[in-house]
Amino acid sequence: MDHFAYREGALHAEAVPLAAIAEAVGTPCYCYSTATISRHYRVIADAFAGRDSLIAYSVKANGNLAVIATLAKLGAGADVVSEGEIRRALAAGVAPDKIVFSGVGKTREEMAYALSSGVLHFNVESEPELAALSEVASSLSAKALVALRVNPDVDAGSHDKISTGRRHDKFGIAIEQAPALYARAAALPGLEVDGVDVHIGSQLTDLEPFRRAFGRAIELVKGLRSDGHAIRRLDLGGGLGIPYTEEAPPSPAAYAEMVFALTEGLDCRIVLEPGRVIVGNAGVLLARVIYVKEAEARRFVIVDAAMNDLVRPAMYAARHAIATVAEPAPGAVFEAADVVGPICESGDTFATQVALPALAAGDLIAFRSAGAYGAVMASTYNGRLLVPEVLIDGDRWAEVRPRMEYETLLAMDRLPEWLRETVAS
Ligand code: LLP
Repeated sequence: MDHFAYREGALHAEAVPLAAIAEAVGTPCYCYSTATISRHYRVIADAFAGRDSLIAYSVKANGNLAVIATLAKLGAGADVVSEGEIRRALAAGVAPDKIVFSGVGKTREEMAYALSSGVLHFNVESEPELAALSEVASSLSAKALVALRVNPDVDAGSHDKISTGRRHDKFGIAIEQAPALYARAAALPGLEVDGVDVHIGSQLTDLEPFRRAFGRAIELVKGLRSDGHAIRRLDLGGGLGIPYTEEAPPSPAAYAEMVFALTEGLDCRIVLEPGRVIVGNAGVLLARVIYVKEAEARRFVIVDAAMNDLVRPAMYAARHAIATVAEPAPGAVFEAADVVGPICESGDTFATQVALPALAAGDLIAFRSAGAYGAVMASTYNGRLLVPEVLIDGDRWAEVRPRMEYETLLAMDRLPEWLRETVAS
């Protein structure tokens, strides 16, 4: 469920007409609904209420400070994968003891930054990483609390690029090798082993792969305990899918029930790292039609947003539903069109042969379900500026990231001394 709906013929985010935002900040721009973000967080929090649990919002899905702060205010922790994300989470008011540091390639500098900021929970993915973390922690007279991310060899059944729990994926430690590695970890001076972590992929639309992976992780918890390890934390990662078009993913409540059935009597704190399911359907990317090109084979709707703003269609063949900001009149004729951006690649295509009402230059459209992995994956490819982000809350809204300026874009580069003359002349 989300809070983007037509009111009196115009698409609104909560009580704000999207056309008013487009008018004020220009297009393209991302718009996020506070009510949807909060609702999705609460559905998960309510499902796990009364259990020892931490909902660590996965900052990589949408790292805007205003989005993280909205969730922090509701009690969320954060799952982070870089120093930049730690800085974002802390700046948005997440307490360091609610931050979990994940990721397959943490550098020693990032480990030191985390530990000195009070972030102690690490999900570790390899033997060399264990050794490095122990050294860094010891040098700071700190103890890192460690869960090993295990690779349960379960296919998430999602897109190849976002499936992470198969034997050949780069993530985690083969579950068979885990007991030996836990024994090594327990002997390292800078570490305190306290958990098991698993994350098999993103945009899962079926509970079965979760069930299999979690079952294996829980067997491991029991085995490790009988080896004498005090396992107090079971991190189940993120991955619950959302409906983009026709998908029908399980509800957070069904997911929670599955987790409860599996963890009955386990006496472990459950950590969750949801990203997409919280923010995915809480955002749209607003764009304006530049031209409608009636080509021989196709009708192309060329919009001012492109793959640099929202890369998911080009990268994962993802399909984002498209809504016209003006509600189609009753009986409006829908015709097939390809919706494309201005970038010089055929891959810059948002949708192929989708049914849309008649559109003309200047009309506004919204790419739905763009709140997760949209703005965070944007680039300046083709000399394009990063687009603004707007947060709506009831009838108020604020630009929570202004549009980048051309001066900023150019100021990112430096001319070497031997080229300055060329440019000056
Ligand atoms: N925890 C870990 C360790 C992860 O790697 C991820 C996502 C999450 C949690 C959050 O997963 P979620 O609940 O959002 O599914 N850019 C891709 C998705 C990449 C997901 C990477 N890891 C996309 O646009 O589909």
